[in-house]
Amino acid sequence: MSTLVAFFSAEGTTAKVAKEFAESIGADVFEIIPENPYSKADIKWTNPLARCNREQIGKQDVPVAGRIENFDKYDTVYLGFPIWYYAAPRVIYTFCKGYDWKDKKIHAFATSGGSGIGKTADKLAPFVPGAAILDAKLVHNSGELSDWVKTL
Ligand SMILES: Cc1cc2nc3c(=O)[nH]c(=O)nc-3n(C[C@H](O)[C@H](O)[C@H](O)COP(=O)(O)O)c2cc1C
Repeated sequence: MSTLVAFFSAEGTTAKVAKEFAESIGADVFEIIPENPYSKADIKWTNPLARCNREQIGKQDVPVAGRIENFDKYDTVYLGFPIWYYAAPRVIYTFCKGYDWKDKKIHAFATSGGSGIGKTADKLAPFVPGAAILDAKLVHNSGELSDWVKTL
């Protein structure tokens, strides 16, 4: 069985953590990219009419470009994303809906602008039915992620 690091990053912070961590453990990597990638204006959350706010308020799906081949072969998935609105961005929920999570170990990790991890795992749980493990950790860098993983 093998390990996958799947991540979404709008501004690069989570991408750096995810890529460094994946390299350190020799995991496969899948970048979750929206079919319609976010522009700077799209994620300007201070604008009430920005795309991110419309998606969040409307609980919209955010279709993902591409697909993971042979998802079955992974028993552990590290799922990385920025905290948006105190939880995972909606594109993460859409991504999760596209795969069978039965018996997978999911370790979510997130970067944020200051919020804690809060109820991120609880909110993600309905989208990964059957997962064997689902936990989540706020991290600031890949070292912190590696340290957490050692404790799992
Ligand atoms: C739409 C949007 C919503 C956000 N919501 C939060 C939030 O609720 N709490 C927080 O601490 N940071 C929030 N942030 C900041 C990001 O979590 C933070 O900058 C993160 O490290 C960005 O990761 P990235 O560079 O991988 O996209 C938000 C950013 C955006 C664009």
